[in-house]
Amino acid sequence: LSVKKELEKILTTASSHEFEHTKKDLDGFRKLFHRFLQEKGPSVDWGKIQRPPEDSIQPYEKIKARGLPDNISSVLNKLVVVKLNGGLGTSMGCKGPKSLIGVRNENTFLDLTVQQIEHLNKTYNTDVPLVLMNSFNTDEDTKKILQKYNHCRVKIYTFNQSRYPRINKESLLPVAKDVSYSGENTEAWYPPGHGDIYASFYNSGLLDTFIGEGKEYIFVSNIDNLGATVDLYILNHLMNPPNGKRCEFVMEVTNKTRADVKGGTLTQYEGKLRLVEIAQVPKAHVDEFKSVSKFKIFNTNNLWISLAAVKRLQEQNAIDMEIIVNAKTLDGGLNVIQLETAVGAAIKSFENSLGINVPRSRFLPVKTTSDLLLVMSNLYSLNAGSLTMSEKREFPTVPLVKLGSSFTKVQDYLRRFESIPDMLELDHLTVSGDVTFGKNVSLKN
Ligand code: UTP
Repeated sequence: LSVKKELEKILTTASSHEFEHTKKDLDGFRKLFHRFLQEKGPSVDWGKIQRPPEDSIQPYEKIKARGLPDNISSVLNKLVVVKLNGGLGTSMGCKGPKSLIGVRNENTFLDLTVQQIEHLNKTYNTDVPLVLMNSFNTDEDTKKILQKYNHCRVKIYTFNQSRYPRINKESLLPVAKDVSYSGENTEAWYPPGHGDIYASFYNSGLLDTFIGEGKEYIFVSNIDNLGATVDLYILNHLMNPPNGKRCEFVMEVTNKTRADVKGGTLTQYEGKLRLVEIAQVPKAHVDEFKSVSKFKIFNTNNLWISLAAVKRLQEQNAIDMEIIVNAKTLDGGLNVIQLETAVGAAIKSFENSLGINVPRSRFLPVKTTSDLLLVMSNLYSLNAGSLTMSEKREFPTVPLVKLGSSFTKVQDYLRRFESIPDMLELDHLTVSGDVTFGKNVSLKN
């Protein structure tokens, strides 16, 4: 009850142009918070988790073997590409949206995305639009940059995800006293995870606009995954399913290696595909969960989702995603929690969902400067916004690179390399301490 009062107080501080969207945000938050208070105990029952049946995760090769139809352009014209762009570059020591960090030959994540889609549109004479889901943290800076693409053959749309109040861990009351999110209030608000896409895409009106234009699927992915290009074979599988039954939701998964302990895995649960994250697993089963033999694959967060299904489920209030409780300590030392959801967790709410086991090349995330070094190097070549592993590399995998803490920030990292070393014959590299690399270095072992 007291949370309700606090939220009402915050709403009274909204100006008339802020009122509508602030009210929507706070209503959305209240629902999530209410669920959080009601739900006790683990969100999954370990005993019910099963290995997914054979046909529910199909190998990519099988999807690809069906080839492409002559009318691939008309199939492409039913697609909308959505990039999750709510995140900042903080973990790489950058201010502003992560998507504006330069990753390869001066191109940012956003530049590469636009180049990929422009190439697609030129090649197939199509008009696949790009939609960015921004957050209040990234919207302004992203919009400023978008002018740069005015003459590209890609129509770019944006919408904003919600802004929710962080909660004091002890009192469970919002930290914010008013709607502002600068000055004292900078840390009082947060974007509630990419699961927010369903509600905010719907609320933005864009979902209806695209349905009205005859679009049928969205391809959603993390903007920092350089491997998340539009795959025509998967799209064709969605639009022309071999058994005539359309999938409402496809999750691209890929084989786990021992280094992949973080991503969620697809399981069979109460007769449906369900994404299970490590945070949901009881302690006693964590090793079993991490094992590469029982749960072989993990979620890449490359998702193909039916627009009509999103509309239907959103209107029925039937999109069910587990709540992720993220505990943080603010700069001033205050302990807070923020409630989040993940886009892939909604798979269980859709009909006829499918996993596709894709090659590792479709999962090329850049989370650290070590990842950045790999994608900047001659291990990859750049072609129309897409990176592919160089044919000159004799091994099918990339080296294991661990740059030390002096390299964490992009600026420091860049300063420490006079030029990016040749890494074609490198197996692993660990750097610690105050190290700089000169020009034309070759790394091998
Ligand atoms: P994350 O920062 O959550 O990366 O952002 P992660 O932890 O590797 O990924 P997940 O959550 O396990 O998949 C993934 C993508 O989601 C966007 C980020 O901008 C990034 O592209 N994102 C994240 C949002 O758009 N909104 C959010 O609230 C959170």
